[in-house]
Amino acid sequence: MAWLSIIGALFLQYSIFHIIRFIYRHWFRKPFSWELYRGEWAVVTGASYGIGAAYAVELAKRGLNVALLARSIDKLRDVAQQVESKGAKSQVISFDFAKASSEDWKQLENQLNSLTVSVLVNNVGVNVSLPTAFLEMEEEKMDQILQVNIVATQRITRIVVPKMVERRKGVVLFLSSGGGVLSPAPYLSVYSGTKAYENALATALAGELESSGIIVQSVTPFFVTSEMSKIRKSSLAVPSAARLARDSLQSVGYEVCSNPYWFHECIATILSYLPLKLQIRYVAKLHRGLREKGLRKSAQKKE
Ligand SMILES: NC(=O)c1ccc[n+]([C@@H]2O[C@H](COP(=O)([O-])OP(=O)(O)OC[C@H]3O[C@@H](n4cnc5c(N)ncnc54)[C@H](OP(=O)(O)O)[C@@H]3O)[C@@H](O)[C@H]2O)c1
Ligand SMILES: *[C@@H]1O[C@H](CO)[C@@H](O)[C@H](O)[C@H]1NC(C)=O
Repeated sequence: MAWLSIIGALFLQYSIFHIIRFIYRHWFRKPFSWELYRGEWAVVTGASYGIGAAYAVELAKRGLNVALLARSIDKLRDVAQQVESKGAKSQVISFDFAKASSEDWKQLENQLNSLTVSVLVNNVGVNVSLPTAFLEMEEEKMDQILQVNIVATQRITRIVVPKMVERRKGVVLFLSSGGGVLSPAPYLSVYSGTKAYENALATALAGELESSGIIVQSVTPFFVTSEMSKIRKSSLAVPSAARLARDSLQSVGYEVCSNPYWFHECIATILSYLPLKLQIRYVAKLHRGLREKGLRKSAQKKE
């Protein structure tokens, strides 16, 4: 019986430690200070709406100028206006990460090299419009997801980071995802695969760039309100994009893989106790249902 009580005591201590650390992390610890970065530039990819736009505005509030990249120029201009209303400078750069030619990339490189960039938010990402079985995905869609989420994200990182290394200063964030890193995602295989890739890339870079004074972080949220998630109204489980961006900017410099919104971390903890097989079955069923619902909806629209 003695060993049982020792195990029990250890378990209790372990749980108490985790709970205290959780509370400290989300409510008491000193938020990352952006003071040193005031007046310098942040580059945000996929900044015309959604989570990217929210990061842009939150960074502007902290005194950073923001270069905004995406395809929709009018929407980018709206975000630029919000950035400037916070007293920061902005630059709108229309760029298609799926289709850019080497010429376009060269031009982008020159444009970014003319700015003192000390923050890169790798936010641009594409997803399938409905959960889709791997075997039924169109080759073209697969390529587009890999191109934007992995190839282009890597490429812009290679453009921006060398200058940060020279200046021994910088923050690089990757918008990875809870789905793919913290939970399985059947029927979103390629999308979630790219998110796991980004998480691994960020973790590796964090180790390579630490001695150059650069902070690299992977952000792994679950649902956030946006076009992509198709959830418009925020709730306990689904924070607004602004809330996620605020929480994320506070957690910079702490965890290498961060789930900045507190309730998402609770979800991750609960999931970590459930057997993977069970999670896979549950999510597969959920996504099959979502797919059928989506198909019914688009059939109704056509009628
Ligand atoms: N929403 C969530 O629940 C959630 C959860 C976990 C992780 N994430 C990740 O967070 C990131 C942002 O998600 P979100 O929900 O804000 O997505 P979103 O609403 O779909 O916004 C995507 C942004 O990327 C831009 N974009 C898309 N394709 C592009 C291309 N080919 N070239 C240039 N820009 C392009 C879009 O602008 P244009 O159309 O103007 O180009 C838009 O600004 C993604 O990486 C996503 O994987 C989201
Ligand atoms: C990606 O798309 C699928 C299908 O539309 C959706 O179920 C899922 O919530 C999306 N992922 C995110 C993070 O929004």
